[in-house]
Amino acid sequence: MEKKKDRKSYRHMNGIEIIGLGKAVPETRLTNEDLRQYMDTSDEWIRSRTGIVSRHLCTGEESLTDLATEASRKAMEDAGIAPEEVGLVICATCTTDYMVPSVACAVQENIGIPGGVPAFDINAACSGFVYGLQLIYSLMNAEAACRSERKYALMIGGEQLSKMLDFSERSVSVLFGDGAAAAIVRGSSQKRFFCHTAAEGDRSALYAHTVGRNQIPAMEYKGKRIVSENPLQITEAYAAGIMKDGYLRMDGRKVFRFAVRVLAAEIDQMAEQSKVPAEEIDYIVCHQANSRIIDYVRKQKNLPEEKFFMNLQEYGNTSGASIPLALADMKDRGMLKPGTRIFCIGFGAGLTWGGCYLEF
Ligand code: ACO
Repeated sequence: MEKKKDRKSYRHMNGIEIIGLGKAVPETRLTNEDLRQYMDTSDEWIRSRTGIVSRHLCTGEESLTDLATEASRKAMEDAGIAPEEVGLVICATCTTDYMVPSVACAVQENIGIPGGVPAFDINAACSGFVYGLQLIYSLMNAEAACRSERKYALMIGGEQLSKMLDFSERSVSVLFGDGAAAAIVRGSSQKRFFCHTAAEGDRSALYAHTVGRNQIPAMEYKGKRIVSENPLQITEAYAAGIMKDGYLRMDGRKVFRFAVRVLAAEIDQMAEQSKVPAEEIDYIVCHQANSRIIDYVRKQKNLPEEKFFMNLQEYGNTSGASIPLALADMKDRGMLKPGTRIFCIGFGAGLTWGGCYLEF
């Protein structure tokens, strides 16, 4: 009898809501004008083609883990919860500090979230935050997660993209920045949540090699190479020109075509799932890649500019951090009031994309 009652209340919980947000960006801010010291570019070129005016970049004293920790602490403070109440930690990133452990585990250690709960990273590039919310939604609606004493999930989006930028190459390096933002999420029977994620395998439009992998013959066994990532060998392999670098490379036009296609489709998808037409939604929070991508779709759909929250002028493209960074800025500006309804839409390397409908 008792068990049946439990089951019923679990079935009732089928939405999720964000109850706290926090952000952290590196102190060092470089304007477009500052970049002219390093490459042949101009504020006019960057601003007119992307909408970006500045970006924040980590110095040697800051790391992704530091930013993710600070953003998480602020999100927990905003939600008014203690580390002991966190039951799940996910970090969306494609610029992890260590191959292992995950950023999520490092944040768990830094914040003192007691052991015994899952903590892991996901890599869906710029769609990572939306992918993460879908995971949280699914896990929270699973019986085991719902019965946990620790009801809150910590969802982080964090990147240190400067690690893989080639500042001698102007067409990609001007676009990106570093930063992290975090959300505290809980299950809700009142707030509705809808989500959709997708990918189409593509390694050529946007990629960065893992430095050292499959490049250095370390030993041979039955004619097959076993590779190692000994730093000395990496240096030698670079010098010998047999190793690829780990810089981010992009086919800008291909990404542009992909982005406008999936952004438009995902707005329709979210409207269909939530039954809230795009004209009636309060805000559409797109991955902050490039204002031209967003403008193109906005005009195509005949939607007003005010509906699209933008902060890429300040931070550039921060990949997995970009959507939560936008949400955190919106909260700081008092834009997330009770009842506010939002579509969040991400798109990025993979090629991945996804959308979610959130109610505040
Ligand atoms: N400053 C000055 N000139 C530059 C710069 C720069 N930073 N970068 C490139 N140029 C020059 C090029 O050398 C080229 O000169 P040329 O005509 O003499 O050869 C000229 O500008 C045009 O270069 P293109 O690469 O053709 O520029 P394009 O008009 O395609 O714009 C851009 C590039 C902005 C990246 C565009 O392709 C775009 O918007 N792509 C969408 C992809 C995007 O925004 N990605 C973000 C990351 S992906 C993601 O988050 C999903």
